[in-house]
Amino acid sequence: MKTTAAYEIREMRPEDAPAVKALEIEAGLSPWPVADYAAEAVRGDSAAHVAERRGKVIGFIIARLITIRNHPTHSDASMTSLEIYNLAVSRVARREGIGESLFRVAVAAGRRTGSVDSAELEVRRANTGAIRFYEQLGFRRTGLRRSFYVNPADDAVQMTADLMNA
Ligand SMILES: CC(C)(COP(=O)(O)OP(=O)(O)OC[C@H]1O[C@@H](n2cnc3c(N)ncnc32)[C@H](O)[C@@H]1OP(=O)(O)O)[C@@H](O)C(=O)NCCC(=O)NCCS
Repeated sequence: MKTTAAYEIREMRPEDAPAVKALEIEAGLSPWPVADYAAEAVRGDSAAHVAERRGKVIGFIIARLITIRNHPTHSDASMTSLEIYNLAVSRVARREGIGESLFRVAVAAGRRTGSVDSAELEVRRANTGAIRFYEQLGFRRTGLRRSFYVNPADDAVQMTADLMNA
C-alpha cells in the first residue's frame, strides 16, 4: 500500500504561477504564459486552486465559471458551467486522490457564488488516463473536435458532468 503525506488545497495566488507553469510542463499540457496563470489567480470568475505539500505546489486546477445560454443538452434558458482549462498533479503525487480533491474544491468554490449546474472540459483523445479519471468523476463524452490540438496533433474529446443533483 502506498503511504501518502498530508496535503492542503488552497486558492491559487499570483506568486504560485511559476510553480504551476513547471507542473504544466511536467504534465505536457498545452502551454500558457506564466503571466496568464498569475492573472487567473485574481479573476473574480476563476476557481483556480493549488495543492501544496510541505510548502511545495504539487497540483493545480484552473477553472472558470461561465454562463451558457441555450445550452445544447439542457432546456433551461441559462446555466452556469465550470469550465476546466487545466488540471495537473505532479507525477510523484498521482493516484492519491489529489486530482479529485482539486476538482471538488473548485466546484465548491464556484457554488459560493451561486449554482454550478455542470462542468465541461476538453482533453486529448490520446490522454486515456485523464479520460478515465474524468469518467470516474462522472464526466461523459459529449463530442469530438477533430485536430483541435497541435504539438503533437490530436483530437479533443469534449466531456461534461451534470452537477445539478451532485
Ligand atoms: C489526470 C490527473 C490530473 C489525475 O490526478 P490524480 O491526482 O492522479 O487523480 P486521483 O488520484 O484523484 O484519481 C482518482 C481516480 O481517477 C482514476 N484515475 C486517475 N488517474 C488515472 C489513470 N492514469 N488511469 C486510469 N484511471 C485513473 C482512478 O479511478 C483514480 O482512483 P484510484 O487511484 O483509487 O484508482 C493526473 O494524472 C495528471 O496530472 N495527468 C497529467 C495532466 C493531465 O492529463 N491533465 C488533464 C488534462 S485536461
